[in-house]
Amino acid sequence: MRIAVVPGDGIGAEVVPTVLPALDLLNDRFGLGISHETFGWGAERWLAEGVGLPPGALDLLTAEYGAVLLGALGDPRIPDMAHGRDILLGLRRGLDLYVNHRPFTPRATGRSIDLFRENTQGLYSGVGGTITQERRTAVAIDECVYTRDTVEKFLRHSLRTLSDQGRERVTLIHKSNAVPNTGRLWQEVFRAELAHFPGLRGSEEYVDSFCYHLVRDPSPYEGIVAPNLFGDIVSDIGAALMGGLGLTASASICPETGFGLFEPVHGSAPDIAGLGTANPYATAVTLTLMLDHLGHPAASSALRRSLAEAVRSDAATPDMGGHGTTGSFMAEVMRQLEKDLANGIDAVPGGGSHG
Ligand code: NAD
Ligand code: IPM
Ligand code: MN
Repeated sequence: MRIAVVPGDGIGAEVVPTVLPALDLLNDRFGLGISHETFGWGAERWLAEGVGLPPGALDLLTAEYGAVLLGALGDPRIPDMAHGRDILLGLRRGLDLYVNHRPFTPRATGRSIDLFRENTQGLYSGVGGTITQERRTAVAIDECVYTRDTVEKFLRHSLRTLSDQGRERVTLIHKSNAVPNTGRLWQEVFRAELAHFPGLRGSEEYVDSFCYHLVRDPSPYEGIVAPNLFGDIVSDIGAALMGGLGLTASASICPETGFGLFEPVHGSAPDIAGLGTANPYATAVTLTLMLDHLGHPAASSALRRSLAEAVRSDAATPDMGGHGTTGSFMAEVMRQLEKDLANGIDAVPGGGSHG
């Protein structure tokens, strides 16, 4: 299994290299057979060569890789984020990674919520355009496009995952009072798909009042299914309820091919880039989502245990209340991981060797 690593811009390029040693250690101890190569896609290359997602990248990834681990994209020198759309949305749409799973655990309840965001269509469809008059934008159009096929396969996969995990409640967020066409499509398909999962009780909420209720009291929510933009916004609210954007991870999956793009929810954070204080926790949790997806639950659990220990130490970054740095936090995670693995909660029978 080969992983393409794209550190990207800003704090993405700071956090990704610090989590790779944890992947390497787990790979070694559990004999996962994972290798990774790093790709320099991002702002520097865009500015120097005008290349975002290089030609042939999608074919290369499909043929030779099983997953992408991405840090973040975004650079103040590219204010319209053209390179980010080219790379990030290029990967999500180009590889049909239509399910974006963004779990978060509100501090107030300590119980996790599974947010599933449709990841390829809606207001991110790329359909639209601009009419310019006298060098000013006169007309601007970004169409919200949804096909029944995508809504169906997205909801079916999300509901099946929730049901398999023993969840009992799922909430569709929509805005069908103001945006009736795609809203109606989502409601129709949601009701039809729910009928296949008798263990799941569905509810439908307008996204505005949903946000109000979620912030006031997240306890009623277990699973959330959302169109693309609503899911994007709610994932940052989820991060805030959990304690910050330094904590939340995301997995973008194509269930048919199994290909996955794994990235933290946060961006390149130019306000703290270069300070060495970016929290690598989100990217480390992203690794656990990747390990789970690739069928390595023991390795994933070991990393989760070590992260939980390290968060309690003073090596934690300032956003988690510590006095540490990106490097000191991951050094503490590695120390915990070594200790955990030495305690013999191991590993493959006969462990340690590569398959
Ligand atoms: P952001 O997520 O980068 O940062 C929002 C706030 O959260 C900032 O105050 C930042 O310091 C803080 N934060 C984020 N990650 C953190 C971490 N790991 N540790 C500690 N604090 C953290 O959002 P933004 O500032 O709106 O966007 C910056 C750039 O990133 C923009 O160019 C945007 O388009 C891009 N972006 C990219 C992605 C992605 O690549 N997946 C996601 C979101 C935003
Ligand atoms: C995210 C980001 C991206 C999105 C941007 C950078 C295109 O905000 O992954 O949450 O809107 O999906
Ligand atoms: Mn976002």
